[in-house]
Amino acid sequence: MRVSAYLDHAATTPVLPEAAAVLAEHLSRTGNPSSLHASGRAARRVVEESRERVAAALGARPSEVLLTGGGTEADNLAIKGLFWARTAQDPARRRVLVSAVEHHAVLDPAFWLAEHAGAEIVLLPVDDEGRVRLDVLRDELAAHAGTTALVSVMWANNEVGTLQPLAEVVSLARARGVPVHADAVQAVGQVPVDFAASGLDALTVTGHKVGGPVGVGALLARRDLPLVPVLHGGGQERGVRSGSLDVPAIAAFAVAVERAVEAREETARRLGGLRDALVAGVRAAVPGAVLRGPADPADRLPANAHFTFPGCEGDSLLYLLDSAGVECSTGSACQAGVPQPSHVLLAMGLDESDARGALRFSLGWPSTDEDVAALLAALPGVVERARAAGLAGRPRAGAL
Ligand SMILES: Cc1ncc(COP(=O)(O)O)c(C=O)c1O
Repeated sequence: MRVSAYLDHAATTPVLPEAAAVLAEHLSRTGNPSSLHASGRAARRVVEESRERVAAALGARPSEVLLTGGGTEADNLAIKGLFWARTAQDPARRRVLVSAVEHHAVLDPAFWLAEHAGAEIVLLPVDDEGRVRLDVLRDELAAHAGTTALVSVMWANNEVGTLQPLAEVVSLARARGVPVHADAVQAVGQVPVDFAASGLDALTVTGHKVGGPVGVGALLARRDLPLVPVLHGGGQERGVRSGSLDVPAIAAFAVAVERAVEAREETARRLGGLRDALVAGVRAAVPGAVLRGPADPADRLPANAHFTFPGCEGDSLLYLLDSAGVECSTGSACQAGVPQPSHVLLAMGLDESDARGALRFSLGWPSTDEDVAALLAALPGVVERARAAGLAGRPRAGAL
């Protein structure tokens, strides 16, 4: 079937042609960067140059870039690695403070630690726009800094696009000597991300949201940050992340990060304009639609728009739009197909039935006016049919 509009770039975005070319070029070369012969040394050079490029683009030092197999792995290393290291230094540090709207790649390792390693999870509440409550963080740290292992608050939310007040989060935690991790998977290439300037201790980035391949990413981690490895083996990446390095993917990842950051201002301007047109168009086409996340466009990712459609099941909307050639998401791609209301929307105070009518539209480097026009042409009919199907679940095949 012909796709007339791909509006799910927050799930994954096409590989940039330049990154694809670099990937292909390196696929036909041999050499493990850990090998000492000429081919190994050549592969090592590619890895170290790529590391330097990623570091320069994100305001980090090359030695702070730990290459991983993507965002999920980097988040797991940050949460588990930091928790294990901090409790090894002082067993009293069992509290893990995470915002209630984190991606499952942060929430699930935290809850795993609670189940298997004695962690105490504190879910930091958010306001109705999805912004973490700084007053609660302040009080938590004032009362329990000595028993807190880490704080993790994402740079930008993957569902509703909310930008978090990270500077304030960092200054509150730093004043109490507690390290902070941020998942910046959705932020890189859309808003300025500078690791050194942020004051963060660790930051997650992944390739496939910025025009690189899937399965490669990095945890930026300060040199003095204690981290216990999640993966043990050959001792690569400062001994923190063992496993032979994926040279083609790393080279393509570096190009993609570099390009995404170079083009950021122009991308944000162009996609922000397109997003504003999409939001205005959806509101005009479906008067009952409710924009979720920040009301002020400056407080959300420029490529994100998120709505709830009262009386509709998000899954119904998604499948009906899909059959019209318009691809979007009900929220996190990792949850698609699981018919549960989004934990992000529930944390923002929506009730279950409102939360079930959610759709996220996300733009990316190839997005055009035509994509938005295709959505707006299909949407009114789709909403009408989804409303008729109600909240009973997916529409029957006949309804598609
Ligand atoms: C905010 C956020 N963190 C982490 C991830 C996981 O990254 P990856 O798909 O590279 O494992 C995603 C992907 O959906 C994400 O949106």
